[in-house]
Amino acid sequence: MKIAILPGDGIGPEITAEAVKVLNALGLKFEMETAPVGGAAYEASGHPLPEATLNLAKSADAILFGAVGDWKYDTLDRPLRPEQAILGLRKALGLFANFRPAICYEQLVSASSLKPELVAGLDILIIRELTGDIYFGQPRGKRTATDGHFPGTEEAFDTMRYSKPEIERIARVAFEAARKRNKKVTSVDKANVLETFQFWKDVVTEVHKDYPDVALDHMYVDNAAMQLVKAPKAFDVIVTGNMFGDILSDEASMLTGSIGMLPSASLNDKKQGLYEPSHGSAPDIAGKGVANPLATILSAAMMLRFSLGQPEAADRIETAVKAVLAQGLRTPDIYSEGTTKVGTREMGDAVVKALK
Ligand code: IPM
Ligand code: MG
Repeated sequence: MKIAILPGDGIGPEITAEAVKVLNALGLKFEMETAPVGGAAYEASGHPLPEATLNLAKSADAILFGAVGDWKYDTLDRPLRPEQAILGLRKALGLFANFRPAICYEQLVSASSLKPELVAGLDILIIRELTGDIYFGQPRGKRTATDGHFPGTEEAFDTMRYSKPEIERIARVAFEAARKRNKKVTSVDKANVLETFQFWKDVVTEVHKDYPDVALDHMYVDNAAMQLVKAPKAFDVIVTGNMFGDILSDEASMLTGSIGMLPSASLNDKKQGLYEPSHGSAPDIAGKGVANPLATILSAAMMLRFSLGQPEAADRIETAVKAVLAQGLRTPDIYSEGTTKVGTREMGDAVVKALK
């Protein structure tokens, strides 16, 4: 079991260190190798995704990824910005299936900005297509407009597109996932306006014929954004394209009140995967020892389950995380009165202790 550890920027190194600590406490044999990525890699070698890092990622069974990005790189040319590392890894490894669970932990219900009764027991799964859509469609760029409202002026453009096999494979991932849950898929589109998403809807409907045991409904993305804050528990699995999934998954994460708790997995067709917390690099708190490592620790659990064939070890980690929450331990992002505030390292130590 070879794991590439890519800590990245901001709080990335602190939180991945805790997840590595937890992995090492499981009593399993892993081969782990660490490499720079994002702004850290740019500083070290002039590129956010150096060839050596990419090769390591390709050769591993799984990648544990911290976070990338810092405002100080915002003025760099786009190909050199830290975000290109994650986009480059997704593309190079074909990580088309992105799992973003939004689970509201019992002890953290009051941390949500929604009323407790709306989110208590929330457990939804957003499956975001991750290698297509307007994120990667060509052509894109800047040019002089030849038509539109202002011909002769400068304009910028991107291309939204999905091929049939791209939609089919992500739809299958969603139906299979729903089979192991509450057997309901909501496909989110914008079929009322966009050709790409009328096609998306048609193809998902066709694939659904192979999954008669799973219920399918379709929802426009604007309505989905609204339903997520109105009645989030009505969803089970949401499947959608790359851009809508980017937006809706941030919205869903906030329902749980604790983006510091949410793991994610990005898989290819060989079950090779990249595992990362759903939150970003939080440069404002980097190095202070206050970041919440639980999303990264839970990402390591997803890694054990999806890419390394170790479901029992994954269960052990998830049980340990619930135990430390039950003990009342909280990093500042999830702290509330009556609980015990701890730092990044103490939280990691507590999970290790709860494993035993
Ligand atoms: C995410 C992030 C990325 C995305 C950025 C950092 C490129 O927002 O993983 O959701 O847009 O996909
Ligand atoms: Mg995002």
